[in-house]
Amino acid sequence: MSEQTMTAPVDAQALEFPDYIRNERAKEFIRTQVAICKPDAVYFCDGSQEEYDRLCNLMVDTGTFIRLNPELRPNSFLARSDPSDVARVEDRTFICSINKDDAGPTNNWMNPREMHEILDGLFDGCMRGRTMYVVPFSMGPLGSHISYIGIETTDSPYVVVNMKIMTRMGKAVYDVLGETGDFVPCVHTVGAPLEPGQQDVSWPCNPTTKYIVHFPEERSIISYGSGYGGNALLGKKCLALRIASVIGRDEGWLAEHMLILGVEDPNGQKTYVAAAFPSACGKTNFAMLIPPTEMEGWKVTTIGDDIAWIKPGPDGHLYAINPEAGYFGVAPGTSYATNSNAMESLKANTIFTNVALTPEGDVWWEGMTKEPPASAIDWQGKEWTPDSGRPSAHPNARFTSPANQNPAIDPEWENPNGVLIKAFIFGGRRTTVVPLICQAFNWSFGVYMGATMGSERTAAAFGKLGEVRRDPLAMLPFMGYHMASYFNHWLDIGRRIADPPRIFSVNWFRKDENGKFLWPGFSQNMRILKWIVERANGRGYGTESPLGYMPRYENIDWRGMEDFSEEQFQELMAIDRDMWNQEILLHEELFIKLHDRLPNEFLAMRQLLLSNLWRSAEHWEMGAGGYNT
Ligand code: GTP
Ligand code: SPV
Ligand code: MN
Repeated sequence: MSEQTMTAPVDAQALEFPDYIRNERAKEFIRTQVAICKPDAVYFCDGSQEEYDRLCNLMVDTGTFIRLNPELRPNSFLARSDPSDVARVEDRTFICSINKDDAGPTNNWMNPREMHEILDGLFDGCMRGRTMYVVPFSMGPLGSHISYIGIETTDSPYVVVNMKIMTRMGKAVYDVLGETGDFVPCVHTVGAPLEPGQQDVSWPCNPTTKYIVHFPEERSIISYGSGYGGNALLGKKCLALRIASVIGRDEGWLAEHMLILGVEDPNGQKTYVAAAFPSACGKTNFAMLIPPTEMEGWKVTTIGDDIAWIKPGPDGHLYAINPEAGYFGVAPGTSYATNSNAMESLKANTIFTNVALTPEGDVWWEGMTKEPPASAIDWQGKEWTPDSGRPSAHPNARFTSPANQNPAIDPEWENPNGVLIKAFIFGGRRTTVVPLICQAFNWSFGVYMGATMGSERTAAAFGKLGEVRRDPLAMLPFMGYHMASYFNHWLDIGRRIADPPRIFSVNWFRKDENGKFLWPGFSQNMRILKWIVERANGRGYGTESPLGYMPRYENIDWRGMEDFSEEQFQELMAIDRDMWNQEILLHEELFIKLHDRLPNEFLAMRQLLLSNLWRSAEHWEMGAGGYNT
């Protein structure tokens, strides 16, 4: 086939291209990478099933993959990463705009020329002893006017097979590209060249040096040293969020860390909403929600679970697509009880990373079943029993599954024009302070609410677990430019569209003083989603609170959950004035950090919020329990 195993390394100038690659810029890009990386072979991926199977078998042979029991988990594999390579590396992620101020204070920055010098040094010969795979992919349906093409060069076959599931990957991309089409060059290496005769390891990576680098002006991506998820599957966070956010700023659209779902009411009316929650805060779960049986006639369908590209349409409304084709979902906590659509999606044709292996040759993770297996091999390949005192799966263990295996996939999920968005939802992980549900007074307040959102850190984020950090619009690790310019961009979009979507804040994670969740979450979130959809369609009742509009107890559909008392609801909805004063000080901290480009509106809105909070409690109809004076 098109594998070229010449005398090592491959001569870049003599490189032969398959005749379906007709784009000169693409050829030049590949030649340059071959010359720098000096691989032993170059392989042009065509995206076929045969190729996928062959690479999976290759990885079984090299020990990167363990084939799971085909009767229990057909055509599925387990990979165990190096313990130093288990999540995105936010402290090693850079936005190298020409001007430092354009990256803004929330991003790591380096001068692009200096960064290129460092990377040139690291990449020189980085693929010695390995094969370079050339991976053409489209983010968004092939040929859609909303889609973008990328070409990733990588020395990781694990990346290739994951990209096959997560994107539209294969040779048809070159047809769309044609001779003159545009693409985002994506360069990746695990940063572990092999000396002649050197034995490879099952998860090659560079344990000490990692760089995830974006050049917004060049619209290019270079990633060194990691083989894991968002660090290595460059179409996802690097292209579809960091680079796309910059393109969206320039072209007047939004690239967001959002799920997209459809809600069908008992009359068959369909409403699409998009929701931004930080990493490992419930997007996949919410995108695949199954309503409680008592809420007859309500149905939720999935467009996407992680990323949304949202553009104003000719009618002035916002339309969203999911640029991805698969799910790279958090495994721990996923079960038939919490997310049966995800469990169905990962029944077959799935790549599991850093979960446990059962004696039967199936996978397991904390929370997958009530009863843990009596024994297993943990994510590090060690013997494990329930008494081991450590989790069997890494907390950021993931499954990679094709989206079309989701039983709740929305019929419109590949519509190249996207779906009309009626509401945006922002939600962090907050033990206290933030109520279960609140609707912003208007677009500007909604943007303020999203921009000042905080969340407790999870295993998918960098830093101390549990600590609250500001994560504006769930985009902190994924912004390609100055965060405050991004706030202005959101305000600006609202001014330019017809009937902007309603904006809501949710918090599924509030706890009582004993540390117990006050809200059952998961399926029960449908009750809140129903209120959101009614409000977004101009129906549904609520009351005005200092933060925005809120449902009263009787405005929520409690069928099947009648034992949930009004007192419990009030506890979840309570707005504590003292805590909110503290919260506003944290908004202030963010504002100080972003002062040079902060929208003026935000200062006005902060004052309005304070003024609202100091309203006399007696006159706030939610009354006792709702307000602490
Ligand atoms: P990324 O893929 O990292 O962007 O994250 P995600 O937002 O898709 O995360 P995911 O849906 O996989 O969330 C995983 C975690 O959230 C698991 O620990 C779940 O148990 C928890 N979770 C999801 N929904 C709920 C909920 O309604 N209530 C509670 N308490 N936990 C939830
Ligand atoms: C996230 O961390 O938000 C993810 C997983 O979706 S990763 O692709 O690894 O970034
Ligand atoms: Mn994500």
